[in-house]
Amino acid sequence: MKDTAINVLKILEESPGPVSGERIAEQLGITRSAVWKQIRELRRLGYQISSSRAEGYRLETKTDRLFPYEINKMLRTRVIGRQIRHFDSTASTGWVAKKLAAESDPEKLHGMVIIAEEQTGGVGRLGRAWVSPAGGIWATILLKPSVPLDHLFMTTMAGSVAIARAIRKEYGISALIKWPNDIFIGDRKVAGLLLELAAEADTVHYALLGIGIDANVPLDELSSNLRDTVTTLQAEVGREVDRVALLARVLREFELRYQQLEDGEYDSIIREWKSLSRTLDNRVAIKTINKTFSGEAIDIDEHGALIIRKDNGKIERVIAGDCFQ
Ligand code: BTN
Repeated sequence: MKDTAINVLKILEESPGPVSGERIAEQLGITRSAVWKQIRELRRLGYQISSSRAEGYRLETKTDRLFPYEINKMLRTRVIGRQIRHFDSTASTGWVAKKLAAESDPEKLHGMVIIAEEQTGGVGRLGRAWVSPAGGIWATILLKPSVPLDHLFMTTMAGSVAIARAIRKEYGISALIKWPNDIFIGDRKVAGLLLELAAEADTVHYALLGIGIDANVPLDELSSNLRDTVTTLQAEVGREVDRVALLARVLREFELRYQQLEDGEYDSIIREWKSLSRTLDNRVAIKTINKTFSGEAIDIDEHGALIIRKDNGKIERVIAGDCFQ
């Protein structure tokens, strides 16, 4: 969104009633036709603005789009989301993040959030395609971690806890975490996370935490097999949700947990993750690259690995794989 559009928007937001084009023009030192052009642009961006010859323009409803200007108004963080890049459409926010990190110093990009209204080549865990139509929240948080490498995988635990907590706080819905990092409402997935690291030897250049939340995704845009296993917040809450408010909340909740991680407070995150888990104390079937087995999920360790007591009594530690329960 361009500065002039934002300036017109601010005047409309601050005004308790309608404002004439003449007053806006005067206040901003631009022509009335320039004001009209910006009003048209704001409408195109999804802001509903009524106009009457007698009274002028009035902002009726704000846009649902995840514009940095809107997120900034609600953001309660110090670092995470203080830099935002917004795209109407991109292949994958993870891909954009990698490009930005390659072109600049990741240190300077720490906390940046890359957001897309839709992704045309979204990537999920284990290289799977991630369906990302308009209506969802598709975002990547770029981090220059100061967390020791062997605890870095807890970033996804921090992210999972943040999303589950944000959903609970915003809508009072009991969202839970399914290992490794899926967020569930009832027996359907509503969100997923993906951690990617750019590292060599023991140096981490940067980490990317991808977040996908099926907020207001129309269920009929999902394939029929996804429709059986996936839900959306809109379906659960019974109305379209405010994606800006939710994302701002997720970023805040994430910042708090990431701070714990940086401070070495691993136990707090593990404790919270456990309290929100729908996997622990349940029978699960695990599929890793080279084997499949079942047993009871009894614990998670500080690297995010799931501990399984197999049916033969043996204990198995699973770092990566699919969990069926
Ligand atoms: C999963 O498989 O559950 C993880 C899904 C992560 C999807 C997000 S959407 C934003 C970011 N960009 C991508 O292409 N993937 C992640």
